[in-house]
Amino acid sequence: MIAPSAFARILNVEDARHAARRRLPRGLFEYIDRGCEDEVSILANRRRLDAIALSPAVLVDVARVSTEAELLGKPQPLPLVIAPTAVAGLVWHDGEIALARAAARAGIPFCVSTQSITSIERIAAESGAELWFQLYIWKDRQRMLNLLDRAWAAGAETLVLTADTAVGPNREYNLRNGFGIPLKASWRAALDVARHPRWAVAVMLRALATSGVPTYAHYPAEFRTRLGREALSDEVSLAKDVTWEDVRLLRQRWRGKLVVKGVLRVEDALTARSHGVDAIVVSNHGARNLDCAPGPTEVLPQIAEAVGGRMEVFADSGVRRGADIARFLALGARGVMIGRATLYGVAMGGTGGAGRVLDVLSAELRTTMGMLGAQKLADIRRVEPSHLHG
Ligand SMILES: Cc1cc2nc3c(=O)[nH]c(=O)nc-3n(C[C@H](O)[C@H](O)[C@H](O)COP(=O)(O)O)c2cc1C
Repeated sequence: MIAPSAFARILNVEDARHAARRRLPRGLFEYIDRGCEDEVSILANRRRLDAIALSPAVLVDVARVSTEAELLGKPQPLPLVIAPTAVAGLVWHDGEIALARAAARAGIPFCVSTQSITSIERIAAESGAELWFQLYIWKDRQRMLNLLDRAWAAGAETLVLTADTAVGPNREYNLRNGFGIPLKASWRAALDVARHPRWAVAVMLRALATSGVPTYAHYPAEFRTRLGREALSDEVSLAKDVTWEDVRLLRQRWRGKLVVKGVLRVEDALTARSHGVDAIVVSNHGARNLDCAPGPTEVLPQIAEAVGGRMEVFADSGVRRGADIARFLALGARGVMIGRATLYGVAMGGTGGAGRVLDVLSAELRTTMGMLGAQKLADIRRVEPSHLHG
């Protein structure tokens, strides 16, 4: 592992993003970095976060500031979870294991994606992290239930159902740059890879030499062959008929905590609660799915208020600074998921790179809290919008 100190020049998430851009083939970098359609929402997420001012209390002793949190009944040193991100295993060799190790080091959970390149069994065996498992529902529900059994057997106690990807998103840059799973050979892709030799050797050649062409590890074994992929394509494509009935089924079958990710309406939050869901993630999927979606910051306060203390509320989408974590907490989130920031980190330098990003975010959060006179997370307060105009 490269030690986090090797990344001393990476002072913020944007530095890690630049380092990732240099290292990754363009098609892959765009896949992790960009939004959808006209990319209005990705900029809007930033602007909406920036518009939230936090209220400093002066003359408070901040010699000891605590960022400790309790998420789903477990104490942890930071209010963070590494978000599920498909294909993290393509940005670094065994990238999901690298991310999970960085999470373990920071004492926070790592959420494994249904579409990860590395299996949850290997991630569990090689990382020591607390694992959550993110579920996309396949058309064949029986195969989905089998996958849940695997996740449980591997030690995941928290299941995260992603509810905001009802249909395939429109990402034109992916069509132009040709990036997708299964990976397809093309002159354009070959040129892109040739221009990024460090990635080509450290990730692609290494994968080819060990486990073969990278693909989704949680998909049935037949999926790895071209014929199998075609035969199975319908069964393991993402179902478009996912409803609260599925939540009911999952609640019956899953013995651990159940989280619904991608909620942006008060009514949906309340319905989740009435289905026995333990937590929701207020998220617009990092602005990757619906370009006219509201930002989580716009709906989080109403949702947190409506839910009261009866269900935990997390948030994500757009965290690039520790202050953004503080902003989500001030709006009512109990915990915050981090998607691209740690992906840039792992792309830049595996576990050490992701660890560096987590260290930077944690230090920024502490500085923000010190400046705010917040000794603990619950002390972080926003400036109420009415006061801005009053
Ligand atoms: C490259 C990439 C892949 C993602 N894949 C998934 C996924 O497989 N399942 C899921 O629920 N969310 C997925 N997400 C969304 C993240 O879990 C998270 O909601 C989002 O990245 C948060 O926004 P941020 O990247 O600005 O932190 C993905 C995000 C990115 C950037």
